[in-house]
Amino acid sequence: MSAVLNGPVYADVPKPAFQPGPAGTHITIRGLTKYFAGWPLYENFDLDIPKHKIVSVFGPNGCGKSTLINMIAGLVPIDSGEILFDGKSLKDTKIGYVFQNYREAMFPWMRTIDNIAYPLKLEGKSKAEVDRRMEELVASFDVKFDLKRFPYELSGGQQQTASIMRALAPNPEVLFLDEPFSALDFEMTLFIREKLQEVFMQTGTTMLLVSH
Ligand SMILES: Nc1ncnc2c1ncn2[C@@H]1O[C@H](COP(=O)(O)OP(=O)(O)O)[C@@H](O)[C@H]1O
Ligand SMILES: [Mg+2]
Repeated sequence: MSAVLNGPVYADVPKPAFQPGPAGTHITIRGLTKYFAGWPLYENFDLDIPKHKIVSVFGPNGCGKSTLINMIAGLVPIDSGEILFDGKSLKDTKIGYVFQNYREAMFPWMRTIDNIAYPLKLEGKSKAEVDRRMEELVASFDVKFDLKRFPYELSGGQQQTASIMRALAPNPEVLFLDEPFSALDFEMTLFIREKLQEVFMQTGTTMLLVSH
């Protein structure tokens, strides 16, 4: 016979019922907990992110901004908690993600236009559908540079414009952007900010933007 001595004692507390956010909420985060090396970064964290808005997450380096959006976007696993998009799970939600470092975001062996079209091809869209969407994107971003060039032939701002176009190509419900301006100079930052704002005014895509 074996018995566990001094085993953990669990209080018989039922899990609280899921509390939906107020009307107009897009992303509901409940009881989010994340530890790194035994230390809590998030503990029982609740947040409601509104739909059709740009929400900015800001705070000093290392405070947990990237980890938060990466957990919401499913790039970093959570320890416990629940994250719902309009009541749906991530796997039933189309998202786009713009990485902090545009230099590593594009496939270097593909022309810029093929990088942008890549998610549409993954979705199995026909050539005609891809071409139509590409035309729309070029028009809404008012692209003046040659998309037939390879990413390394473009300026930083042009590469970041292309990676935002790629993220938006499949018409995601939510767009995540992790410090999208941090590798750009001041003028390029203003340019991309304006482009993002224009696209937001056209589409109303919920955007979660990390800045500091
Ligand atoms: N994979 C990891 N392993 C261990 N610690 C991590 C890991 N990722 C992030 N952290 C820690 O979590 C904290 C928050 O990191 P991060 O979310 O990248 O911050 P921010 O984006 O606000 O600068 C930091 O203290 C960082 O060192
Ligand atoms: Mg970060």
